[in-house]
Amino acid sequence: MPLRIDVVTLFPEMFVGPFDASILRRARDEGRLDLRVHQLRQWARGRHQVVDDYPYGGGPGMVLMAEPICRAVEAVRGPTAVVVVLAASAPLFRQEHARAWAQASQLVLVCGHYEGIDERAIEVLGAQRVSIGDYVLTGGELAAMVVIDAVARLVPGVLGAEASSIEESYSAGVLEYPQYTRPVEFRGRRVPEVLVGGSHAAIAAWRRRAALARTLAWRPDLLDDPAWEECARLGLLPVRAPDG
Ligand code: ADE
Repeated sequence: MPLRIDVVTLFPEMFVGPFDASILRRARDEGRLDLRVHQLRQWARGRHQVVDDYPYGGGPGMVLMAEPICRAVEAVRGPTAVVVVLAASAPLFRQEHARAWAQASQLVLVCGHYEGIDERAIEVLGAQRVSIGDYVLTGGELAAMVVIDAVARLVPGVLGAEASSIEESYSAGVLEYPQYTRPVEFRGRRVPEVLVGGSHAAIAAWRRRAALARTLAWRPDLLDDPAWEECARLGLLPVRAPDG
């Protein structure tokens, strides 16, 4: 079953490009991904199609009004749609979200802008919200594109021949090991010898160690207890000097 993704945004033109090339272009052409981008102003009332207003309580910037957001989502959502608001002040988007949403029949993504969205729209719609990282973007559009890419690649058939890479990084709780390709020597740097001539077992052991070492260095938060123990067994943890 194809995944339908509806995006509600003030800037539909931003979505032209990223989904017209490469794997996602093919997925759309093959009918596995049905992407529809909607201009939020379509659901604004009045001649000026106003969608924002000043925040109650004061403060800088503008807030997207609940009414056009709710009308937009209610117009495009089917009965089983997952509705997601992209916002900086939200739980982090993770691979688990991508995995769950790739199983949905429809995903409706609402791109926040300015100082955000009237809280009541999120409550009325029963929407989830996610942030793609601890930094502030000018709006939710680029975040929506990141979410679409991460979700779409998990839809069956989208990756085709690339399918082996579906669930590498993160799914096993460690980062991917480093990769090398020809030539065997580049600007004086050789590919690790074990990868050139080693046995399958030796290569697997080298890769596991390298994956754990970089996870420890860059993303120790990803390691579970068994992985910490494995790091210790492999001598990857700094040795503490005995007290006294
Ligand atoms: N809008 C602004 N910053 C964002 C972020 N980090 N993630 C999602 N939406 C955003």
